[in-house]
Amino acid sequence: MQAFIQYSRQFTNPITQIASQMNLLQSGLASAERVFEFLTAEEEAPEVASSRGIRSPAGHVVLDHVSFRYQADQPLIQDFDLDVQPGQTVAIVGPTGAGKTTVVNLLMRFYEIDSGHIYLDGVDAHELPRERVRSMFGMVLQDTWLFAGSIRDNIAYGKEGAGAEEVVAAARAASVDHFVRTLPDGYDTVLDEDASNISAGQRQLLTIARAFLADPAILILDEATSNVDTRTEVHIQEAMARLRKGRTSFVIAHRLSTIRNADSIVVMNAGRIVEQGSHAELMQRRGFYHDLYASQFADAVEAVS
Ligand SMILES: Nc1ncnc2c1ncn2[C@@H]1O[C@H](COP(=O)(O)OP(=O)(O)OP(=O)(O)O)[C@@H](O)[C@H]1O
Ligand SMILES: [Mg+2]
Repeated sequence: MQAFIQYSRQFTNPITQIASQMNLLQSGLASAERVFEFLTAEEEAPEVASSRGIRSPAGHVVLDHVSFRYQADQPLIQDFDLDVQPGQTVAIVGPTGAGKTTVVNLLMRFYEIDSGHIYLDGVDAHELPRERVRSMFGMVLQDTWLFAGSIRDNIAYGKEGAGAEEVVAAARAASVDHFVRTLPDGYDTVLDEDASNISAGQRQLLTIARAFLADPAILILDEATSNVDTRTEVHIQEAMARLRKGRTSFVIAHRLSTIRNADSIVVMNAGRIVEQGSHAELMQRRGFYHDLYASQFADAVEAVS
């Protein structure tokens, strides 16, 4: 057993290291971006109507003929149309490189679209201050971004000036309060730089708690594929489902259950939506989704049947 643990550490360590580098890079990017925003403030596209904020966003999201490319000679997202009603869950699926993460990046204005429009509650996102756009979104990503600091501070990051009770309420909503209380220092437990002193599942639950506290109208969820034990997995699934309730959600989905339960599935390939519909509709069509599903979930399908 000891040997096994040793061996599995050897195997997972490089992965953990990469993940923590990613986290560092992410926070580095965030601060670099702020500096950059400051430096380029004058050259940027004018952010008109910045006072015309959306007071309490409902989460109606429309992508209208959106096109985008990272490199001038490589068109990626082309003529992308999507209308997501408030509170709907959209599962985005597609092979690697299809552009799933790119769409999410565009929604949050990490990149500016080349043509077309993105409307948030009917307002062109381009006419809103970028900070305002981002404040409408909450993200729970695969490489959960926790920083060296207390659990309390990590959750509180979701909302400026959050009080102690709010932090606990958010942790309860994410089903992580119980775990935190089992730690000798409770909410004052200090996480390492890569939060390696708690499990991957617990890290995810903490980011879910952070999102609960932020209470955004729109959610972006990049489902983790990392292995967590079945019990924690159930907790994560339930917490995610509660978090999605009443919010518009874009889920880059890897789990069959999420995909099946989504209001709409957007199937992407090479930057385009190739199919869209419910699981049943798409299966019946026997097209791209059907084949993707068959190749990705062959085992799961067998297990069900
Ligand atoms: N910052 C970038 N600069 C240039 N090209 C990029 C950048 N990010 C992604 N790409 C390219 O854009 C395409 C779409 O990438 P994207 O990350 O959106 O795919 P994805 O559907 O999320 O894939 P995966 O399932 O592997 O996460 C890929 O060909 C990728 O190489
Ligand atoms: Mg991706």
